[in-house]
Amino acid sequence: MKLILLGAPGAGKGTQATRLADQYHIPHISTGDIFRANLKEETPLGLKAKEYMDQGLLVPDELTVDLVMDRLAKPDCANGYILDGFPRTLVQAAALDAKVDIDAAINVEVPDEKIVKRMAGRRVCPKCGEPYHTEYKVPAKEGVCDRCGSLLIIRKDDEAETVLKRLAVYHDQTAPLIDHYQAAGKLITVDGTQSVEAVTDAITTALKA
Ligand code: AP5
Ligand code: MG
Ligand code: ZN
Repeated sequence: MKLILLGAPGAGKGTQATRLADQYHIPHISTGDIFRANLKEETPLGLKAKEYMDQGLLVPDELTVDLVMDRLAKPDCANGYILDGFPRTLVQAAALDAKVDIDAAINVEVPDEKIVKRMAGRRVCPKCGEPYHTEYKVPAKEGVCDRCGSLLIIRKDDEAETVLKRLAVYHDQTAPLIDHYQAAGKLITVDGTQSVEAVTDAITTALKA
């Protein structure tokens, strides 16, 4: 199964991607997590990406596309994958279309007002990328990742002002992909304001149909 998760920042792409990856036994590929891992290691790519990420802007397509294509060529992608946060521009979508025939693009819909509230309470695992929330997804032990035991952090780009910028960039550059995948007959839209479990159920039900 080759899936794309579309949706605004904070719509729940990362949250759903881990659940779907466990369920379908396919890797979860998040470009945001890859950039953050590179930044932690202070690689040239990470330092370059940081200039854009900290401002809530997209990393340029030429840095992003090759990175994803290399990742998709790895053996663990042979039976499929979940792309979380890629493609994010029409240029990226065209590059992906040229290489692979995806099964579905899942659009997790959440209105902007709810996004701002979600981001304010988000905590993330710096090691495995798992997202948590102070109210909606509390880890078993406060401040500690359930999956890998690392101490949770607040993402630098989750400051209110940067979140608003990311939302504007989403509407301008990424939202057009909804029409792109609709036209290709690949679009599945789910209501992302439901509980985490209900969103996963809506996705898996639509994928079976
Ligand atoms: P990225 O890391 O992908 O960030 P994003 O798209 O802005 O999305 P988020 O990770 O913020 O949100 P999410 O949808 O994963 O939501 P989550 O599950 O955490 O990208 C970061 C940056 O990297 C970009 O700004 C850009 O600079 C760069 N970048 C990445 N990919 C790129 C690309 N392809 N091209 C160019 N640049 C790129 O959930 C959010 C919160 O809500 C959590 O606290 C969670 O617990 C909670 N939550 C989730 N679901 C629910 C629910 N159903 N009910 C209640 N709470 C929920
Ligand atoms: Mg994410
Ligand atoms: Zn973790």
